[in-house]
Amino acid sequence: MNVDKSLTQWVEIDAAAFRHNVAEFRTRLGQTELMPVVKSNAYGHGLLLIARLAESLAINWLGVNSVEEGILLRQAGFQQKILVLGYVSLAQAKLAVEYDLRVVVYNLENIRALAQAASRQKKKVYLHLKVETGTNRQGIPIKMIGKIWQEIKKHPELVLEGLSSHFANIEDTTDDYYPKYQLENFHQAIDWFRQRNINIPLRHMSCSAASILFPETHFELARVGIGLYGLWPSKETMVSCRLRGKEALRLKPVLSWRARVAQVKNVARGAYVGYGCTYRTTRPTRLAVIPVGYYDGYDRSLSNAAYVLIRGKRAPVRGRVCMNFFMVDVTDIPEVKLEDQVTLIGKDGRDKITADQLATLAGTINYEIVSRINPSIPRVIVD
Ligand SMILES: Cc1ncc(COP(=O)(O)O)c(C=O)c1O
Repeated sequence: MNVDKSLTQWVEIDAAAFRHNVAEFRTRLGQTELMPVVKSNAYGHGLLLIARLAESLAINWLGVNSVEEGILLRQAGFQQKILVLGYVSLAQAKLAVEYDLRVVVYNLENIRALAQAASRQKKKVYLHLKVETGTNRQGIPIKMIGKIWQEIKKHPELVLEGLSSHFANIEDTTDDYYPKYQLENFHQAIDWFRQRNINIPLRHMSCSAASILFPETHFELARVGIGLYGLWPSKETMVSCRLRGKEALRLKPVLSWRARVAQVKNVARGAYVGYGCTYRTTRPTRLAVIPVGYYDGYDRSLSNAAYVLIRGKRAPVRGRVCMNFFMVDVTDIPEVKLEDQVTLIGKDGRDKITADQLATLAGTINYEIVSRINPSIPRVIVD
């Protein structure tokens, strides 16, 4: 692939892999509509780029975290329904209405602020009420639904379009006790509205893991993030999938992260490498300097732990990851030269490095590895 020679590092987005993952989820979800979760720069994949791919697949929904992300999408011309999953501050209510963003709500104050903004702008605003089912993050207790509904009813500009919740313990375990408990609580909320003949067209609580494992959580809309980027929510989800006798999805990682070698140098046996002199060579060593650091999202905990691929071969990280550089040992890859392509995540030849591997080394999860890749690094589509 020909990438702009001036780039010192870049992120490749495999459009075919994304389309494939969407198809895998659509098969699972059947009639349920798919809302790709594109918050946090589309989990590091590039907000606008992923939104464009979703648009090309006739996907009607996008899930963002903030009003700012919603505005970026609108300013780029996206017409899809955009749901803000995070917090819309009281002062942002006006902007949410102006940019036709749908909002997840869980406070009376925010509902009132949205009603006021909508009334001033002579518009309607679509609300998705979040109920607390056991995650104890955002959400209203089920016993407060009546009070909230009384408030919503007062304002003709408010449309209660959705009822939602979010699972706490679906990725970290193969035990389905807690998701089932949360689903039961969600059903209590659904019943509250049903008993009063109040129709809420969209119910949603399904993330990637729930979409894969529990069809009973699909309802009308599913908010899917990590899986669409070709990564499993966790090993436990994969195991649960097998234990339940379900056909495993074939997910294809969408993101690769590459850079160019900034310098190749020979150092003597016994030389120290990098800050803190945490690595000392045990032989005459050839080092390649990689122009990527923890500022870019290559975690410092990968110091002396991870490896990259150059010319299809593994080059271990030596010394500490700095803010903008790290060094790798290329003694056993003598053909390495200046500006050779380096793979931090992705395939090179017959070998690969996955976000999951880096996550294990860094003591975190694949979500964090990809979502923290600095948004300023160019994202390039490969198809
Ligand atoms: C409210 C909400 N819904 C859906 C998702 C998507 O979850 P996943 O990436 O596991 O599919 C997230 C992700 O953090 C979320 O916070």
